[in-house]
Amino acid sequence: MSRGKIVAATDESIEQAAHVLKEGGIVGVPTETVYGVAACALNSSAVERIFAAKGRPANNPLIVHLASSDSLEQAVQFPLGQKTSERLELVARFWPGPLTVVLPKLATIPAIVTAGRETVAVRVSRHSVMQKLIESCGFPLAAPSANRSQAVSPTTAEHVLQELGDRIDLILDGGECDWGVESTIIDIRVSPPRLLRPGGVTREQLIEVFGSLSDRAETDRSDGAPLLAPGMMKEHYSPSTPFYLVDRLALPPDALQVARIAFSPLPEEVSSRFAITETLSNSGNLTEVAHRLFAAMRRLDQLGFDQIWCDSCEEKGIGLAIMNRLQRATARFRS
Ligand code: TXA
Ligand code: MG
Repeated sequence: MSRGKIVAATDESIEQAAHVLKEGGIVGVPTETVYGVAACALNSSAVERIFAAKGRPANNPLIVHLASSDSLEQAVQFPLGQKTSERLELVARFWPGPLTVVLPKLATIPAIVTAGRETVAVRVSRHSVMQKLIESCGFPLAAPSANRSQAVSPTTAEHVLQELGDRIDLILDGGECDWGVESTIIDIRVSPPRLLRPGGVTREQLIEVFGSLSDRAETDRSDGAPLLAPGMMKEHYSPSTPFYLVDRLALPPDALQVARIAFSPLPEEVSSRFAITETLSNSGNLTEVAHRLFAAMRRLDQLGFDQIWCDSCEEKGIGLAIMNRLQRATARFRS
């Protein structure tokens, strides 16, 4: 397949991408979680292009990415109350990293970025390409995951090309994403802080820091009605092939061509019954599973099987983020 708009990330191509962004363009960018599609967070019409390219509902806000936590004042309204400041100091230790924090929004961030909210979700990525790009731009970047709305997030530059290639200006290739699932999102304006989306920074790590945490209410709507609580639609990450979570030893009906995603090797007498089996880790290591999961879902979805069956795992550590994404991926196939 042609690599089209993909360029390997180098100092020169990062400069080129910064130029495209300054001119109001949109660019596919690597982060340590998943690939994003970035625009200047201060440029409404550039951000509008992101919503159009993704087919994203206007009521779903974008994350604003900063080069370091020293530049929070580019997006966040200071001063924060004392309690929120203390909580910010506690979570900032996870930056740069797979964590997004909801804080009061600075007036200069256009309403389109935050879908009219008074809050802004900010993140400092650990990926050196993303850090260099933002530094070179000198402004923060609004960047959602670089997939069409409702589809599986991209973890390679080629995935971004498949999803948005005809709708964006350039894709910086920074290799496979380390984590493979999106960042953890936490609202620290409230006590205890509220976990809006599980991700690479685990619930357990956050509880260690804060003592306790409240979980978000399941209030998302996929019917276009305003989101009571922003965040993810129930049916997100959907492959188009019917996708199910199954017991380890479940066998497919003879009449169906079923693809299998296993988190660790299946017994031969089980795996041999599937049209194809993708084993994500030799040892059942969930960090490896997260790293490879979206790519496996995407690949198998393109092969035209009748169904895809997948393992599940305990909702502990990174397992909570994995199960959150899998539950969303299977939602529309459950009756
Ligand atoms: O790892 C990630 O977070 C990736 C990389 C590219 O940074 N980005 C990402 O963006 O996953 P996106 O747009 O696919 O998911 C962002 C989520 C959405 O569910 C959105 O509703 C929520 O963050 N969000 C954005 N702004 C918010 C806000 N002010 N309050 C609450 N949730 C917010
Ligand atoms: Mg997304």
